[in-house]
Amino acid sequence: MKHRVLVTGGTGYIGSHTIVELVNAGFDVVAVDNFSNSGPDVLEGIAGIIGRKIDFMELDCADRSSFSKVFMKYPDIASAIHFAASKAVGESVGNPLKYYMNNLQSLLNLVSLMREYCGEGASIVFSSSCTVYGQPSPENLPVSENAPLQPAESPYGRTKQMCEDILRDCVKAYPELKVTALRYFNPIGAHPSALIGELPVGIPQNLVPYITQTAAGIRKCLSVFGDDYDTPDGSCIRDYIYVVDLAKAHVQAVRRMLEADSEAFEVFNLGTGRGVSVLELVNVFREATGMDLPYVISSRREGDIEKVWADPSKANRVLGWSADTPLDKVLLSAWNWQKRLLEKK
Ligand code: WQD
Repeated sequence: MKHRVLVTGGTGYIGSHTIVELVNAGFDVVAVDNFSNSGPDVLEGIAGIIGRKIDFMELDCADRSSFSKVFMKYPDIASAIHFAASKAVGESVGNPLKYYMNNLQSLLNLVSLMREYCGEGASIVFSSSCTVYGQPSPENLPVSENAPLQPAESPYGRTKQMCEDILRDCVKAYPELKVTALRYFNPIGAHPSALIGELPVGIPQNLVPYITQTAAGIRKCLSVFGDDYDTPDGSCIRDYIYVVDLAKAHVQAVRRMLEADSEAFEVFNLGTGRGVSVLELVNVFREATGMDLPYVISSRREGDIEKVWADPSKANRVLGWSADTPLDKVLLSAWNWQKRLLEKK
């Protein structure tokens, strides 16, 4: 009976947390990664949490011949969770070719290899994003899966939309294939053990790692990108979801495709259902950690969405999943991880 779960991009931020939850749920796992945006020390972190090494192969999913080696070595792969992709919005604008070649080729190779090696019941969980919704209109907030998709604002976002379209076409043509697309809102925080967490490369582009590096004195001051938006306190609103809660949703999605009578292609929005502004998050961080957090209001960041948060009711109902970890606890986990990184230096 095939049952192993392949995790591509397994040493990435969400991939590593998902491996922990898959193992906790009793799944056999094999992870692959090319370490383009992570390192082997993440494998040590995972081992520290689960008490043993996981099966792992260093390879590039965009290279079909190399990628096929994991399927030859692990013939019991039944499902795949596909995280392996480049994901920096700003970088994608300056280097679209990298994003189209890497993100599309990796996915095409995965579908092709799953068909060749896994046959009937091959299932894929695809790491998608709320960026496919762009800026929802007021009547479409909170955002449900039926909200209209907007043209992506970046090549990164466009690769997410294109990959979803590719997967829709494939499940129509190949009845043995099942797909679940999980559209993440804003993943934040770190595992409670502080052994794995977010590892931004260079200057953090995302809010929470920039906050923790500011509190740690690595950055002088946080710039809040605008307080003149049409929101209660003028700063942008997002749906910040704890990465461990997000990881658990992937386990539910794998289970559903293996065990339940799921549709060939299903989509779920993964968020808390609660919108939080930048300034609110800054205040919660200060209260939760007791740390000073110097910030200035600066000009808006180009391409920023003003306000977006999820309607997670479909995932709550169908996946039996919800993201309930309180924001202060999530931000404390991010701070504990930042302190661990400082100790490791
Ligand atoms: C959040 C808010 C900024 C940094 C990200 C990914 C995107 C997608 C969704 C995966 C915004 C503000 C930020 C800073 C700030 N994830 N901010 N000062 O832009 O919502 O999108 O999550 O697919 O790919 O990029 O997240 O953390 O960059 O910004 O004021 O130094 O924080 O303006 O309002 P974003 P973010």
